[in-house]
Amino acid sequence: MRAVVVRPPAAGARLREAPTPPLVPGSVRVRVLEVGVCGTDRDIVAGKYGEAPPGSPDLILGHENLGRVTEVGPGASGLAIGDLVVATVRRGCGRCRFCRANRSDFCETGDYTERGIRRADGYLADEYVEVPDYLVPVAPSLRPVAVLLEPLSIVEKAVRMGLAVLDRKEPTPGFPRTGPPSALVAGTGAVGMLASLVLRVRGFDVVAIDRHDADASEGLLRAIGARHVNVAAGVRALGGASADLVIEATGSVPLDFDLVNVLGPNGVLVLTGIPNADAPPTRVPGGALFRGLVLHNQAVVGSVNANRTYFEAGVRDLRAFEERWPGLTARLISSRIPMERWAELLVERPAGAIKNVLTVAPDGTGAERAR
Ligand code: BGC
Repeated sequence: MRAVVVRPPAAGARLREAPTPPLVPGSVRVRVLEVGVCGTDRDIVAGKYGEAPPGSPDLILGHENLGRVTEVGPGASGLAIGDLVVATVRRGCGRCRFCRANRSDFCETGDYTERGIRRADGYLADEYVEVPDYLVPVAPSLRPVAVLLEPLSIVEKAVRMGLAVLDRKEPTPGFPRTGPPSALVAGTGAVGMLASLVLRVRGFDVVAIDRHDADASEGLLRAIGARHVNVAAGVRALGGASADLVIEATGSVPLDFDLVNVLGPNGVLVLTGIPNADAPPTRVPGGALFRGLVLHNQAVVGSVNANRTYFEAGVRDLRAFEERWPGLTARLISSRIPMERWAELLVERPAGAIKNVLTVAPDGTGAERAR
């Protein structure tokens, strides 16, 4: 089969023939339809991240995925040939209490693997084999947008983490206030845009920030009733506005610090962007920073990965988005190009794009056409 592989820690990638994985009892074979590309993939191709599976020099790339079941092995239940599925990314260490409870996104030992990222082959190949526990079924009506489910799972978890912290303002349940709660989303890539949609569906007023004007995200934000602010000249552009919940999706360290100052009283900042470990040192007024956090009951929380429950929450939200804004979610997919042209998406980030997708197998639904 064809696969796009990297050889960590070397930079670069190539499309090559790889052995088709054997169907083992209890597992199913999935034909890959599409793979989304994100900053993590580009970091791996740049040689900054990623690890090959034990015993192999190469790692098959790709973790944002959509495929169709083509073969069901003996003893595999719950899935049938033809089902559309999205695979989760992380596989637990099998030892810690979280991994044993199917919550490997909270793994305590660090001995987890991540398909397409760390010590396990990914999905940017013609086929893969997996057990049904890690495969989330998706209705055919969601075919055009289902490749967004993995980044949406990241958002579902991050929002859940934020709401859990905001909930500490109990005893009064919910948000006992006159107006809606406010959210600020930093970054208008796929994670930021999906966060804006989720938060609008949850009843938040949403302001989304980035560093440019008049790109695809701006019109979409307007269409969902969110406000866009260009903060290229700094968060001053927000005019002092503050938010109960801030979801960060940029990985920019200076911005992370600025976002603390955008938090309202009792607010929570959830970080999802993964900064490069070698990001230049930042000078921070630590006293003012921590003083503010304490005096205003504020919290900063990191959130990584997502277990199956967040993928399932994402499926429900994809349906909710379609009901509320028919056809809009599909517009988050900026381009679909054939897998052979991987370098166009994995080396440079095309300007102004929200989510770029590599088509592995066109399936005649029309969803794979470039927009
Ligand atoms: C993936 C997560 C993963 C994280 C860290 C992200 O791009 O979506 O599943 O846990 O990278 O490797």
